[in-house]
Amino acid sequence: MAVAVSAMRGRAYRRRLAQLAHHVVAGEEAETDVDTGSENLSARAIASKARDPESAMRSALESGKIADMSVGPDGSRLSEKLPGPLQDRDKMEVLLEIGRAEAAGTNHSQWMEWQEQYGDAGLESNIVVPHIVRERVGTEFKTWYTEKVMLSDPDDCIRIARAHTQKQPNFQLFMGDSVISATDNKVWKDQRNHLTEAFLPTSSLAKIFPVSVARAQACAEILKRLSQGGTQKVNMTEFYLNETQQQLHLALFGQQGEDFDEDYNAMFRDSIGGPPGDDRYQLRHRQAQERAQDMREKGRGREHAFESLTRDGAGAQTASDKDAHTSQFLKDLNTFIRKNADSFAAPTDVAADPSKNIAGPLSAVLAKQLDKVNSAQTMGDAYEALDDRLKAVLNGYSNLGNAFIFAFAGHDTTGHTLTWLTYELAKNPGYQQRLVDEVDAFWEDVGDRELEFLDMKKLPFLTRCVMETLRLWPVVPNGTFRQLSYDDKILGPGGEMVDLPKGTYVQVTTAGRHRSKQLWGEDANEFNPDREFEDDELWHDQVYAARNPHSRRFSPFTHTPRDCIGKNFAQMEMRTILTQLFKNFTFELTEEERTAADLHGTDMARGKNAGTLGPMDVDFDMPHKPYGMHVYAIPRNAEAADWNTPVEWPASRGIVPESAMLK
Ligand code: HEM
Repeated sequence: MAVAVSAMRGRAYRRRLAQLAHHVVAGEEAETDVDTGSENLSARAIASKARDPESAMRSALESGKIADMSVGPDGSRLSEKLPGPLQDRDKMEVLLEIGRAEAAGTNHSQWMEWQEQYGDAGLESNIVVPHIVRERVGTEFKTWYTEKVMLSDPDDCIRIARAHTQKQPNFQLFMGDSVISATDNKVWKDQRNHLTEAFLPTSSLAKIFPVSVARAQACAEILKRLSQGGTQKVNMTEFYLNETQQQLHLALFGQQGEDFDEDYNAMFRDSIGGPPGDDRYQLRHRQAQERAQDMREKGRGREHAFESLTRDGAGAQTASDKDAHTSQFLKDLNTFIRKNADSFAAPTDVAADPSKNIAGPLSAVLAKQLDKVNSAQTMGDAYEALDDRLKAVLNGYSNLGNAFIFAFAGHDTTGHTLTWLTYELAKNPGYQQRLVDEVDAFWEDVGDRELEFLDMKKLPFLTRCVMETLRLWPVVPNGTFRQLSYDDKILGPGGEMVDLPKGTYVQVTTAGRHRSKQLWGEDANEFNPDREFEDDELWHDQVYAARNPHSRRFSPFTHTPRDCIGKNFAQMEMRTILTQLFKNFTFELTEEERTAADLHGTDMARGKNAGTLGPMDVDFDMPHKPYGMHVYAIPRNAEAADWNTPVEWPASRGIVPESAMLK
């Protein structure tokens, strides 16, 4: 079916694509100088804010405000034993480059380039980079300089991730001792054991499956109206992020009703990722701009959100108006959970009282955890020295951290994965047709009966498409940030083993291994759902099971035991959503997306890494691009082509033409 596309050409557009291609981050010079005396230093802050970033960085390091802790117990630095940019470049220069790449969301491409340039094992090389650590000790912030290993050798990755579960303190800054950020293994394990029951496939997820299906049906209706018979382009990033947030809120948090409606979800998403860049969301842009007066460019919302949580949690300063909405959302979430605790139930509640049914299982487990003191063990002596008020602040902070990690990781990762999958299928119509055929056969088999949880195991090609998307576009390319619990060894240059002392910062990266030709073959950079996955990567052909699909070369959810707790929920909701969408639509890229796809292929630079990897919006003419991916959703049946918009259309879904409103 032919679709109307907006003609958008000319110099501005070509310039945007060229910027994207060359990772050019124009406009980095900023208006303000950085106060290098402040404890709030980070490489990114210095690189993005200072008028003369290099001298700001140099004076911070030379003044001793940032202590150099890079020399190990044996008197040497990691950069003397492992390859990396420090072998032929000044550390200031490299730190600034890292800061700029982090601000632009291109750091994953940067370290992959360094792996190939400096390592002797291509994208499987372990390299070392300079690193400024920001750590919170009690309510104080400490900043110091060290060197960090970016791990990519497949055997080292799986072994270290499995054995050294201790986290670096980077997430603790804004999430306290939440399950993802706790640096003390005991604090992590206690929480993890407690939270896990909400994600058990049979006793929890299967019970909330009908809620997921109902929302997936609703989302097909929404897409029908957004795409208006395939004539209007749809920003699928925005669409999917909204849907995964709704799935999370309705099914896992058990929210029904107005408290967390779509407009409020949009506000949270805008505060952490920036509002979508297209015209139809102008109203949201304006509102976000008003809320974030000094947010210079929209793409930087996430940094502001993280900073806001850091400040709010530390109690050092109440979040200013511009940031208040991020933490307000999380506080409201905690209030909602506390207030409604009696109506939630997780598997242990049902075991204790069989008259109960599973409802909002994540809220049920969080309600029990909210008042637990987590900080005592991790903040150590500093914690003990605090007065009760500050202890309360820190504990509240960890609660905010758990609200944050579930509200954020619980939708952002899955939303981006669905977007990349739709993008790849739109680029590869042959695969798209095979998926449509499988989905049609699936629905024929289901017939008139209700969909059941185990039906989701009948979609082998859909499973391959999901797993291949997770390989090619790993939405957490950073992998996981670990700190060695004991001395260990990793592969160095020339196949020699290199000693790493206890306490070394090691980032177990995902991006390089997922794209390595040695590990995946010559077509490693192509989307090929037919590729030979190993048994452990595809649940031994069980289509989908309650296990982390991972191997030495593949770790989209990182490696067990400190892997993603939400992976089974993500696998379930992706299937409920995709079976509804492909039953009703096929997808075509807009002309602008096709041009960008031709220009970039599957280059990693097409993705913006702001903690998670989503597509950069090629329609957006600013150096700091928001996430965005634009397609036409072509109706497959008369029902899907019937798109009259109801008057109660949520404002967060963008403006619809007057003519589309039901009278
Ligand atoms: C396709 C979807 C998803 C992907 C690819 C993914 C990936 C990951 C990865 C790589 C980690 C490790 C991060 C680190 O160590 O720093 C992680 C951890 C985590 N994820 Fe996910 N995630 C997904 C969906 C979800 C969902 C739906 C939820 C919740 C509803 C969730 C909640 C968490 C939590 C709480 C952790 C921390 C676990 C711990 O440290 O014990 N994720 N995820």
